[in-house]
This record gives sequence, structure tokens and C-alpha cells, in this order.
Amino acid sequence: MKAIETISWDDAAGAVTLIDQTRLPGRCRLVRCRTVDRLVAAIRDLEVRGAPALGIAGAYGVLLAARRIHERDHALFLRSLSAEAEKVRTARPTAVNLSLGVRVVMDAAERAGSVKEAKENARDAATSFADVESRSCHAIGESGAALLPERCTVLTHCNAGALACGEWGTALGVVRSAIVQGKEVSVIACETRPLLQGARLTAWELQRDGVPVTVIPDSEAAFLMQRQEVDLVIVGADRVTRDAVFNKVGTYMHAVCARHHGIPFYVAAPLSTFDPVHASREVTIEERARDEVASCGGSVVVPDGVGVKNYAFDTTPHDLVTAFVTDIGVLHPPLDWEELGRAFGPAGTV
Ligand code: MRU
Repeated sequence: MKAIETISWDDAAGAVTLIDQTRLPGRCRLVRCRTVDRLVAAIRDLEVRGAPALGIAGAYGVLLAARRIHERDHALFLRSLSAEAEKVRTARPTAVNLSLGVRVVMDAAERAGSVKEAKENARDAATSFADVESRSCHAIGESGAALLPERCTVLTHCNAGALACGEWGTALGVVRSAIVQGKEVSVIACETRPLLQGARLTAWELQRDGVPVTVIPDSEAAFLMQRQEVDLVIVGADRVTRDAVFNKVGTYMHAVCARHHGIPFYVAAPLSTFDPVHASREVTIEERARDEVASCGGSVVVPDGVGVKNYAFDTTPHDLVTAFVTDIGVLHPPLDWEELGRAFGPAGTV
């Protein structure tokens, strides 16, 4: 498997480097964010995307801010840092990882006794947060690989791979680990209208690794399940609350169809995606621009004046989930949130 460095911190340049995911598969272009505003734009425009990668972007965003604030007074430094951190945190509302990444680094900076120490703490916290997020994908892959038969076809939605996580991936991490173990796995990637993360990104990164992948229109998934051409479904998540899984819009539809056809439906996500605090009704589901749906390939596909609804995510109730594949193992619903709470560790959740 070829490493993909989705997002990284360049300490010498004091910048966040990321792969511009809006240009893939045509071009693999690196973007260097030297300011918080540029990073916020990269998050909003989906140059960097996917819950764990957003968490890393959040952590690096606070580090970037800490580097760029030249205030010498500790209290004033922290006040400016907190304002910049808030810009990063609110760049997108649904993936809980973004808030967590911001909070972990902000907390580390606030624990310091001086500006110098706050900057050092921010760097240590951000880089170790990114390492933990990357490592947890390998743990997810190991746990999940055991669930896959020796030969199987996995249907996935959106992109929950290396591009969404820093490396390896969650849903695609399970596929990668199973292949490393010698299993014969092929993937059906739903194209994922309107922004085509499945067609553009999942297909790109799996092809690069030599994993057999076929792209289908989202609307074909139920038919393939009916024809028994899908053995299991694995998706990632942007947030798992006590009552629902938030993931790319279309996920719920696959979960309902999988249940109807008796096909296992797995959600692969690190603990950083679990949110024990909010109920699903308290979570904002991002609504994106009309144009993302109303135009396609540069052409207008919806008549002017006709409304569009463009929710970026939907919610799947836990009872449609066969199991959660996490960095602490495979968990079956109903989840034991007390046990999860003990596993969250010092960073906790938002
Ligand atoms: O809008 P996006 O592309 O950021 O949405 C991403 C998803 O919905 C992914 O499935 C999710 O973040 C899991 S990534 C491991």
C-alpha cells in the first residue's frame, strides 16, 4: 500500500500542507496553508475533508494560530488564540472530530504558564493528536478485517479512506487490513452525489493501491444488494451520538436496504468520532450550497428558480448497525457508553 500524506505540519515553514481533494482524481496538488483563514477556507471548500482529517486540521489550525500570534502577554495571547481557534472549530458543524482537535490543542495551550510554553504545548499536542488519529485507523483495520469473509465484495459510501484520515482509513482501513492478511476483497464505491467523494476519491486511492474497485451511481446500490452482489456494507462516520450515526447523506438509505436484504452494515470509526454529550437533534447537519446540486460537470442541471435541498449528512439509527468497528474493538449496539467513557482517555470528547 502506498502512503498518502493527506495533511501534515511543516514545522520549519510554520504551515499546514494538505492534498487538495477538490482536484482529485485529475490532479494531486499540494496546498500550503500559512494562515488560519486559508486553512478555514480549505476546510469549508473540502480541500481537506473526512472526520479524522478534519480533527487533525483542527489541531494543526490552533498550532498555526499559535505560531502566527506575536502577542507577548500570556493572557492576551490566549484570548487571540481562542478567537482563532473558534474560527477553525466552526468551519464545518457536523464532524465532531474538528471540535475535538481544536479543543485538545487549545487545552494544552491553556495549561501553559507562558506564551513560549503555550506555543510548545500546542505543537506537542497537535502532533501527538495527529499521530494518535493515524494509529487508531490501523487498530480499526485490524479489528474489522476479522469480520470480512476470505472472499467478499464490500459496498462503501463517500470516502472513509486515507484521504479522510491522514492515512490507512477507517472503512477503507478495514479493507486494506483484510487485503494485507491475504483476503480477496473488492470494493463497490457509491459515487456519492453531489460532490462525488466515492467516484473521485475512494476510487482514486484504492486504484493506487491495486485494490479492485468499481464505481456505481448511488441509486444502483439497492439493486446490487437484491442481486446478492454485495456481501457487506462498511461506511465511516462523522459523529456517533447515543441515538444515531451521522455520515455522508445516502448512508441511511444503504443501511435500510442492507437490513432489508439481510446484509451486515458496519460503521468504522475511531473513538474521537463518538459524542456522548449531544443527542442527534442537537447536532447541526451542514447544508451546502445550491450550486453543488444544481450544476454538474459545469452544466446547469436544475432549472433556475427550482429549489434544492443539499444536506451533507444524514442520520442512521443504531438499530440498523450490525456493529461499530472502533480502535478499541468491535462493538455491538446497544453501545455501553459507560465503557466508552472509560476508554476516551484524558482528551475526552467535546
Ligand atoms: O463532506 P465530507 O466529504 O467531509 O464527508 C465525509 C464523510 O461523510 C465520511 O464518510 C466520514 O467523514 C468518515 S471519514 C473516515
